[in-house]
Amino acid sequence: RILILDFGAQYTQLIARRVRESGVYCEIHPWDMSDADVQAFGARGIILSGGPESVTDVTPPVAPSVVFDLKVPVLGICYGMQTMAKQLGGRVTASNHREFGYAQVTSAAPCRLLDGLRDHSDGQGRALLDVWMSHGDRVEELPAGFVATAFTNSVPLAAMADESRQFYGVQFHPEVTHTLQGAQLLERFVREICGCEARWSAGNIIADSIARVREQVGSDNVLLGLSGGVDSSVVGALLHRAIGKQLTCVFVDHGLLRLNEGDQVMDTFARHMGVRVIRVDAADRFFKALKGEADPERKRKIIGRLFVEVFEEEAAKLQGIRWLAQGTIYPDVIESAGSKTGKAHVIKSHHNVGGLPEKMNLKLCEPLRELFKDEVRKLGVELGLPREMVYRHPFPGPGLGVRILGEVTKPYADLLRQADVIFLDELRRHDLYDRTSQAFAVFLPVRSVAVMGDGRRYDYVIALRCVETIDFMTARWSRLPYEFLDLVARRIINEVQGISRVTYDISGKPPATIEWE
Ligand code: XMP
Repeated sequence: RILILDFGAQYTQLIARRVRESGVYCEIHPWDMSDADVQAFGARGIILSGGPESVTDVTPPVAPSVVFDLKVPVLGICYGMQTMAKQLGGRVTASNHREFGYAQVTSAAPCRLLDGLRDHSDGQGRALLDVWMSHGDRVEELPAGFVATAFTNSVPLAAMADESRQFYGVQFHPEVTHTLQGAQLLERFVREICGCEARWSAGNIIADSIARVREQVGSDNVLLGLSGGVDSSVVGALLHRAIGKQLTCVFVDHGLLRLNEGDQVMDTFARHMGVRVIRVDAADRFFKALKGEADPERKRKIIGRLFVEVFEEEAAKLQGIRWLAQGTIYPDVIESAGSKTGKAHVIKSHHNVGGLPEKMNLKLCEPLRELFKDEVRKLGVELGLPREMVYRHPFPGPGLGVRILGEVTKPYADLLRQADVIFLDELRRHDLYDRTSQAFAVFLPVRSVAVMGDGRRYDYVIALRCVETIDFMTARWSRLPYEFLDLVARRIINEVQGISRVTYDISGKPPATIEWE
């Protein structure tokens, strides 16, 4: 396995993803990992990430010195290359001039890391690579034993290598897709130079996880809060395969799910897979608690609190549960470690089962802790979950509760469900669902006039929202074809009694959040 030491670059997670895509397991740890921990990790190779600091600062972050004594290959990327150069006796100079974006590097000497990789040729037999740069400082003098292996017009030392020790540095970022040969470069480093086998595949991950869960929980019983979302669904499928009848799932139906969603969850898990799922129909309780409440934050709080209450009540009825399973995934783990408190445990989102572990004295079982979302999805498919479930758009914990503006009532939820299913069905039918990140309908409790046939209607309004985003922190509204929007609007107005007008939300995030509340 490969150790990635993180110096705080935005791209560190991408390095890990590329390494795993080449079939090799890796972990990200902070740069100040102790020498003993680095040694104990037992890496076949180490990657030093980029970072926002300058190695010319008074006390810059440095790699643990043992990194260079372990006799394993080391690859420094951007800041990682600079700190490697400096720590091994070279010289780095600061610069106020940042180079950012596309650059072309030219190979300068044979090098195991770069040989044979090329996007163009310079006419003199030298390879040219299109790369992505983002740096201010640069290496000015190489440490003893290194040769320059590539240059650009502005950076004479854009890559360096010491083949005898298998130390490599690149000033550019191979982990981003703009560096066209980047994935190849990283694959070559981990597979050929470090000699790691490509063992990290969905099948192997499942086999390893099953073995680990069995060892962890033994013959104890495990409880899982199933939400129907991707992460908890994959945990459910995995645990079922690992421990079968020792798993009990609780699925709380708060009446704010999409059309048929509850039945689909039960169908997949209880009927097809034979998982023990307790479905709690708590819709009335939720609607009652939400009655008269129009404030978005208070609505969220009510839904969250009730969810925990219902879940706890069900859990308390069960005998002999020792473990609580959760769908925590690797980005959650890295984020909490990155916050420097280090130990904070991220309990997932809406079905945040707050005080439960303490009160019931449950231990946590988090089999997806090391996986990225795309890996979780691959696992889900491999475990036999329906593709629609595994690749579905995110759905917020409070469900339709935050998509019915103002007071939430059952009649409003029923109207919204009908409109929403039309929108999503048409997206799927037109092959647009997988090309957008999140789509849904919103219920506006205002009425507008319409003429239908010879009659007058005075009915509610539906807003459609559809966005494209990578990380859900920023989003762009999807440029859906007019013809498509026209079709959806007509179907909703004709088929949903009580809706007379449909609008399309063309607000970007920021400032408008993806959800309306
Ligand atoms: P916003 O509306 O903040 O949403 O732009 C960003 C993403 O988060 C989802 N979201 C939630 N997910 N519980 C969740 O589990 C919540 O309370 C919640 N609020 C928003 C939203 O659907 C979008 O994907």
